[in-house]
Amino acid sequence: MDNRPIGFFDSGLGGLTSIPPMMKKLPNEKIIYFGDTARTPYGSKAVSTIKSFAKQIADFLVKQDVKMIVIACNTVSSTCLDDLEKAYPDIPIVGIIQPAADKVVKSCSEDSQVGIIGTKVTISTHAYSGSIKKLAPEMNVFETACPAFVPLIEEGIIANDIMDLTIHHYMDDFVWENRIDTLVLGCTHYPLIRSNIERIYPDIKIINPSEEIIKTIDDILTEKDMHSGESVIKNVFYASDLSENFINMIDTIMKGSGVDANVKFKNLEIGSI
Ligand code: DGL
Repeated sequence: MDNRPIGFFDSGLGGLTSIPPMMKKLPNEKIIYFGDTARTPYGSKAVSTIKSFAKQIADFLVKQDVKMIVIACNTVSSTCLDDLEKAYPDIPIVGIIQPAADKVVKSCSEDSQVGIIGTKVTISTHAYSGSIKKLAPEMNVFETACPAFVPLIEEGIIANDIMDLTIHHYMDDFVWENRIDTLVLGCTHYPLIRSNIERIYPDIKIINPSEEIIKTIDDILTEKDMHSGESVIKNVFYASDLSENFINMIDTIMKGSGVDANVKFKNLEIGSI
């Protein structure tokens, strides 16, 4: 048994979409979340910049004595997982790409037309198509970047025509030309526009990596005998810019899930990380 918290991080509020499924499946686990809201989005930045941000945040989480680091960000997982594993060989580091790739391979056939949407960086690494094709070389996988989704979501522009038009702009040709029947939301922000996507493309099956990662976390905790017992520690959500948007979004995500988050919020200036 290990009652220390699990550290989650993302470029902003996207990684919060893993928190309700995590709390439902593993209610005793405590969470320290870091959203780098002051520097979001990461998905169009240079890989060297993303690597230095990720290392800085992981160092911070390690100082908080987390028992595991969950990279709740596809952009960071696709570029920094190996580096972070090397930097912290004694702490399990969980990336979000492999659990979702496993799910695609388990739930699709070789006739499936699988679409991956993500940030420019995630798509440019081909991390999803590479991981899927390693397991199922014949599977048809298509990838496209949707770079305006994250800034709009961070601004709370979700349930309206602007978001719908942006989805049509990036995805209509991609979906029709490639006859996509399965879509991976390859950015942790995208579950927040899942209902828009489902309404616009009602026949497409959605795979949500923010949920798929929870099983991997549970498996590692079981394997290493690191599950928490009951404890009164609060979940803490840090942001490098503790904006109203961030707090409102935690509220919306938690309320929608029916989970009592028992949270504390903290602003953390980047210089102090
Ligand atoms: N939520 C992130 C991801 O999963 C990052 C998005 C961004 O900052 O561009 O890729």
